[in-house]
Amino acid sequence: MNDYLPGLAGVPATQSNISDIDGEKGILSYRGYPIEQLAAHSTFEETTLLLLDGVLPTADELSAFEAHSQRNRRVQYHIRDLMKTFPPTGHPMEMLQTAVASLGMFYPSTVSGDSSGDELDYIHNMSVKIISRMATIVAMWQHIRHGYEPVDPRPDLSYAENFLYMFNEEVPDPLLAKILDVCLILHAEHTINASTFSVLVNGSTLASPYSVISAAIAALSGPLHGGANQKVLEMLAEIGSVDKVEAYIDQKLVKKEVIWGMGHREYKTKDPRAKILEKMVDEFIEARGGEVNPLFEIAKEVERVCEDRLAHKGVYPNVDFYSGILYSEMGIPADQFTAIFAIARSAGWLAHWREQLVDNRIFRPTQVYTGEPVRDYVPVDKR
Ligand SMILES: CC(C)(COP(=O)(O)OP(=O)(O)OC[C@H]1O[C@@H](n2cnc3c(N)ncnc32)[C@H](O)[C@@H]1OP(=O)(O)O)[C@@H](O)C(=O)NCCC(=O)NCCS
Repeated sequence: MNDYLPGLAGVPATQSNISDIDGEKGILSYRGYPIEQLAAHSTFEETTLLLLDGVLPTADELSAFEAHSQRNRRVQYHIRDLMKTFPPTGHPMEMLQTAVASLGMFYPSTVSGDSSGDELDYIHNMSVKIISRMATIVAMWQHIRHGYEPVDPRPDLSYAENFLYMFNEEVPDPLLAKILDVCLILHAEHTINASTFSVLVNGSTLASPYSVISAAIAALSGPLHGGANQKVLEMLAEIGSVDKVEAYIDQKLVKKEVIWGMGHREYKTKDPRAKILEKMVDEFIEARGGEVNPLFEIAKEVERVCEDRLAHKGVYPNVDFYSGILYSEMGIPADQFTAIFAIARSAGWLAHWREQLVDNRIFRPTQVYTGEPVRDYVPVDKR
């Protein structure tokens, strides 16, 4: 009972029917549907509804959800004014955490924890609002931090199209919007990791959903959780050319340094999300007739060399290996990559928030005390 496992490694923290990982076989499923099928046939909106409600929606349910989400893309001008007071050098994840927490002051929200039909409707409604506004806030920040007014959302565009439209102030290339849509699907959920666990802990206190999601953003912001895709891009730029890849990787391995975007705690074979992105990279290069950023070629060579050097250890490219390079093609700067991860993951976080509230018990783990036995207080003049 009192065995302590650092990081709670292998300790079940909840029961969940939202997603599952088979790390040996490289399988990831949301509500039982393999990620490959969702990436090929679904949209971020439909996948979000699947995660929140547990079933694939009918056509009418999906359009009602899309309309609901589109209506909630705008945020009050107070939020914009607040964001204008943030320093432009602030990291997008800290901006996002603060802006999402502040939503709670402008749109007050409380949950009772009674899991009645009304409460479930309320939870659903709040989830749609938060997921819709997350993309708006991240895109707004891109303009505000450069001293410009943000771009108003467009209700006629899909979630991914609207994000890129608000971000770059132009309707996006359909292929890039499709790639972003798939990236959002791939990042939407991944069982109980540090940020999702924080959703359970904070949600279990009946804290407001804004506080719950703000805490999850905080957990994701740490370099041990989100953020590897930014590092991948920096690494590719540092390598500089295809002919330098082999020497660079070998030098890193000799020094026992990690190769960013390689390896995953859960997967001992190729991350299924990385396989999907790898295919999308090939399609993208083909669609551009090979006229792409040289970083793509460097990435392909890094993958080849790492496969040769690391596959025997079960280390393969993970989802972060290719997502950053694709985001940069969309005009998104590297410091915003983790914020995009957060936008996508808000769908999974809020699905877990609901699951926690339906059968809630406040988290109160125990500890193994390693301090002094009970002893008498010593007055300050006797120490
Ligand atoms: C994600 C990560 C922490 C998983 O670590 P893990 O499951 O604990 O894997 P281990 O540390 O047990 O690694 C097993 C072996 O592979 C090596 N290895 C794992 N990932 C590696 C990487 N990215 N580069 C080089 N070697 C790596 C380890 O050094 C270890 O080698 P050893 O057996 O000779 O000591 C690790 O792979 C990593 O740091 N990757 C880079 C960061 C990253 O891309 N993170 C995003 C994850 S989505």
